[in-house]
Amino acid sequence: MSGPAGPSSQAVRALAAEAWAFRWRVELDAEIRFERLADRLERAGAGAVLVELARRASRDERRHARLCAAMAAAHGQPVPGEPPPPPPEVAPAALDQDQALLYELVAACCVAESISVAVLTSLLATAREPGLRAVLHELAEDEVVHARLGWAHLAVAHRRGATAFLGPLLPAMLRGSVDDDLFQPVDAAREDPALLEAGVLPHAAKRDLLVRTLDVVIFPGLEGAGVDTGAGRAWLAEQGRAG
Ligand SMILES: [Fe+2]
Ligand SMILES: [Fe+2]
Repeated sequence: MSGPAGPSSQAVRALAAEAWAFRWRVELDAEIRFERLADRLERAGAGAVLVELARRASRDERRHARLCAAMAAAHGQPVPGEPPPPPPEVAPAALDQDQALLYELVAACCVAESISVAVLTSLLATAREPGLRAVLHELAEDEVVHARLGWAHLAVAHRRGATAFLGPLLPAMLRGSVDDDLFQPVDAAREDPALLEAGVLPHAAKRDLLVRTLDVVIFPGLEGAGVDTGAGRAWLAEQGRAG
């Protein structure tokens, strides 16, 4: 948020506006993804609770998009009037329908939503401005539930012994889940700690948080559901070395 107590520098304000506009697009993508997932869960005969969770998630994401658009505007960059094009399918074409559904849920919920929760929680630890805190809090509360949807569906698939195929696919899934430049050095402006007060993690902090979240939350969760994370862990180690 801008104002006398907010971030002063022009660069921080521009980067924050860009980050919130990016989140706006991500939230709109998620709205469409969850709507698709709800239909697919229903067709696959998933329980009514999971189907409703996915529909609710879609409605949540639409609300999140509005919040992110307001934050982008507050930092001087209104989002475009037109929504972005619908997001592409993420599951590899070779998977059967049940596998594709599980892949999408793991990518969207167990990975992406778990990372969001970690980012939002981390931002809440330092953010002081009440308007920003309210937004971060509202987002975090919902994203926790969205992550749970994926873990719940994964547990059901695990009971059927149908999760092992995900192991070799983890590098592709993770590549699709992180920013392209996450493991690259970036401009000093993107490491400015003042970004925190605008609701944005500095670049290195974001990268470290991703690594920690994979190590502490995502990989152990997948392993508990019968997914060998060796390939995913090797991918992560390689990014660390290349970065
Ligand atoms: Fe969201
Ligand atoms: Fe979400």
